[in-house]
Amino acid sequence: MTNNLVEKINRLRKEKNAVIMAHYYQTGDIQDVADYVGDSLALAQWAAKTEADIIVLCGVHFMGETAKILSPHKKVLVPDLAAGCSLADSCPADKFKEFVEAHPDYQVVSYVNTTAAVKALTDVVVTSTNAKQIVESFPKDAKLIFAPDRNLGNYINSVTGREMLLWDGACHVHEQFSLEKILALKKQYPDALVLAHPECKKVILTIADFIGSTAALLNFSTKNDAKMFIVATESGILHEMQKRNPNKTFIPAPPNDSTCACNECSFMRLNTMEKLYNCLLNESPEILIDEKLREKAVKPILRMLEISEKLGL
Ligand code: 13P
Ligand code: SF4
Repeated sequence: MTNNLVEKINRLRKEKNAVIMAHYYQTGDIQDVADYVGDSLALAQWAAKTEADIIVLCGVHFMGETAKILSPHKKVLVPDLAAGCSLADSCPADKFKEFVEAHPDYQVVSYVNTTAAVKALTDVVVTSTNAKQIVESFPKDAKLIFAPDRNLGNYINSVTGREMLLWDGACHVHEQFSLEKILALKKQYPDALVLAHPECKKVILTIADFIGSTAALLNFSTKNDAKMFIVATESGILHEMQKRNPNKTFIPAPPNDSTCACNECSFMRLNTMEKLYNCLLNESPEILIDEKLREKAVKPILRMLEISEKLGL
């Protein structure tokens, strides 16, 4: 069945000059069929450059929206339009506008996990791969607002010595990891290294051996000599980690509630191979965006891409 779907997807992508891009949090079968698999920075960079007529963005809504903002003349499809993001939802544009207007002498740095309307209120967008360097590109005394993730914002404040004003948002997956269960795993496997995404709570980051974006965690696990890793981010990343490192062991960090698969992003997992095939076939659901909003939202994303290029990221 899956082989058959892969063949049909391959045929359609060729016929339609479509490219399939997937985030590391997608299921393994989707990552394996994609032309490009990457973190949110890489997805934005590829979306800005691709020559394809159609981009199928296997990820969540803000990732598809970012691709459409950067490539407005291309058709951007997502397998399931309901694939949202609890972090983006934690920063409604109307409330954020009030917050920004209440701090007129501040510049706004927003994580890419935001809606186009929030990006339109932003001076520069960041991802977890480039947030530290982009924040450091501002003068030391610059007054900055950081939105929407309080954990990433706190972490960037701690490594840069800044005191950015933080929006109080969070991701429902990264807030769930259990300190006690990770410490118990560390006791059981003392040589295992703990890898954590900066969206995790401070208590988890405090015990992490390495903190980074999904791409940075993947690179670290490949380059480091350790044979075992406890991974505190969405468990989809284990697919590529295991593929690149067949002789190493990767343990997903457990969530507080052992009855749920809370280390999986329920939004990311809405996408399936069947939905990917159907969206290529029907060229729907499509991401559409109002042109006036797009013109505002594209500026801080282009600024991010320019700084990232200069920094070699
Ligand atoms: P990355 O920037 O590491 O791809 O993270 C995106 C994301 O949604 C994290 O939850
Ligand atoms: Fe959003 Fe969290 Fe899912 Fe990432 S893991 S897409 S931040 S809800």
